[in-house]
Amino acid sequence: MPGARITGWGMAVPDKVVTNDDLSATLDTSDAWITERTGIRERRIGGTTSGLGIEAGRLALKHAGLTGDDIDVLVLATTTPDAIVPGTSATVEEGLGIAGGAFDLNAACSGFVYGLVAAHGLILAGARRVLLIGSETLSRITDWDDRSLAVLVGDGAGAVVLEATDGPTELLGWHLGADGSLRHLLKCDHGGYLYMNGKEIFRHAVRAVIDSSTIALQRAGLTPADVDLFVPHQANARIITAAAQRLGINPERYVVTIDRYGNTSSASIPLALVHALNEGRLEPGHTVLLSGFGGGMTWASAVLRWGG
Ligand code: ACO
Repeated sequence: MPGARITGWGMAVPDKVVTNDDLSATLDTSDAWITERTGIRERRIGGTTSGLGIEAGRLALKHAGLTGDDIDVLVLATTTPDAIVPGTSATVEEGLGIAGGAFDLNAACSGFVYGLVAAHGLILAGARRVLLIGSETLSRITDWDDRSLAVLVGDGAGAVVLEATDGPTELLGWHLGADGSLRHLLKCDHGGYLYMNGKEIFRHAVRAVIDSSTIALQRAGLTPADVDLFVPHQANARIITAAAQRLGINPERYVVTIDRYGNTSSASIPLALVHALNEGRLEPGHTVLLSGFGGGMTWASAVLRWGG
């Protein structure tokens, strides 16, 4: 059976930086409140989901030494598609000249990890190369007069190329979960703005990350002590710290990028992963734990043995 490994990666964020002080100029909030409660200092705002996705995807393909012609399937994880129909993956498919199929995946902030597990499944089913992108423009569904949400969101995209390999597969264990009875906690109706019950999500999020990560690690025959790098969804620095502490993973072993980008939903894990790679924090043989949670509610974890 073929294995799969990540051979290329890239990211894209809009040029426009919006700081906490910028937001405080029009909202009843402050840099101190936002930094202390969320860990966010600034975020990038602008662009389109397809445009950011194309940019990140192009960099990932280039890094892998491939073109769109080489890709059997494009998976685009997003909560903020350019339109309801067609899928935003269609625009990205054209922009990158993808030869194969293309589909959107919406599992909110868990979307990238859901996509990662699905991409491994596609490779097991015979695909040779899959391009997985998480791309979001949450700013487009945010009420900029609502301080409780406006301070949290950001735009961006991250992408990875997965290729079939005759060697061992990178994916050692995974866990996907959902509880639709909690779907009222985070929602956006057609044409409306994002609504979130932050307190309740916070409560569920820490538990979801811990339980899901533990199951994925158990399935890999590992424990948190084996994790070289933990790449959590970036929704709130306090959630990351609480989950990491309870898993026994110290700060040197986890990635925080929320200070620069805010919550970019399904783009947050690939953005954090690409940052860690660019900073040389991953070496071949390292064990990587990715874990996300979000609207649905959904949660998802994956354990990779980094191939390099
Ligand atoms: N600036 C200043 N004060 C604020 C702001 C703000 N931007 N927002 C809220 N407040 C006030 C509230 O009105 C409240 O005031 P009160 O005590 O007088 O009533 C006080 O600050 C405390 O508000 P809380 O909501 O209790 O603040 P909390 O510490 O819970 O932090 C937050 C709120 C940051 C939203 C937190 O609950 C959180 O991060 N939740 C999880 C969010 C999340 O993980 N979402 C996942 C998915 S997001 C997505 O998919 C886009």
